[in-house]
Amino acid sequence: MDEILRTEGLSVCFGGFWALRGMDFSVRRGELRVIIGPNGAGKTTLMDLITGRTKPTEGRIFFEGHDITGKNPHEISSLYGIGRKFQGPNLFENMTAAENLLLAEPAERTVFSSLFRGASADSLKRAGAVLQKIGLDGKKSRRACELSHGERQWLEIGMLMMQKPKLMILDEPTAGMTEDETFRTGVMIRQLLGGQTVIIVEHDMKFVRQIAEKVTVFHMGHILAEGPINVIENNPEVVRVYLKSGSEGEEKSAFS
Ligand SMILES: Nc1ncnc2c1ncn2[C@@H]1O[C@H](COP(=O)(O)OP(=O)(O)OP(=O)(O)O)[C@@H](O)[C@H]1O
Ligand SMILES: [Mg+2]
Repeated sequence: MDEILRTEGLSVCFGGFWALRGMDFSVRRGELRVIIGPNGAGKTTLMDLITGRTKPTEGRIFFEGHDITGKNPHEISSLYGIGRKFQGPNLFENMTAAENLLLAEPAERTVFSSLFRGASADSLKRAGAVLQKIGLDGKKSRRACELSHGERQWLEIGMLMMQKPKLMILDEPTAGMTEDETFRTGVMIRQLLGGQTVIIVEHDMKFVRQIAEKVTVFHMGHILAEGPINVIENNPEVVRVYLKSGSEGEEKSAFS
């Protein structure tokens, strides 16, 4: 598999505080990469940099060989194909699940085909396939506001799928989910593999074990360790750092 994303010496300084320091991070095409690490380690900051929300102080970001450093978020999502799911709700509350998916399609087509002319047969077919993948086929006519927290998260993942991003970024996709919903999310994400490149930031280690292949551990703005989940979990330094900083968080139980 070839490399799709690479950062070189990526650093960002917020008012004297270095949230990322000289980070060299790379992901191969078709890979599912999980990023873990204590609170404040810089995980979300890296996602903000990749998607153009934050500009780096130093270093560069390459996507499919293109230097995307400093590009704006719209360009990065629509031109380069990097899609991101945020933690907060991002749904059209009074639209149905199916309509939300249709509206998530790239803008040029959406406004005309979905709202004024009616969705094309092609779009409807794709939305139908996505509804099945996210387990909401039976609820396609429910309004977003009527769905459970977990179902809303899945709908957002579905909206990302509709955009067919080359790289999909999910920051804590299982936050607030029940154990059952978390497990189902893992199954859903595993189904995405085989073509789709995915980066997931996650704290729930049970979920990480369910889905992960390669894991990168962040700590204080740099990469502490990287490798297969079973090796990472037994890395003494990872255990020490995670246990130490996660005295009241999920990380502690994660390694117990
Ligand atoms: N826009 C900003 N301005 C100032 N400081 C920031 C900004 N964004 C992030 N930080 C700081 O950078 C550090 C890294 O934050 P980040 O959100 O990347 O951590 P994280 O690894 O995602 O943590 P968590 O697991 O809690 O989500 C934190 O100390 C945070 O307070
Ligand atoms: Mg974060």
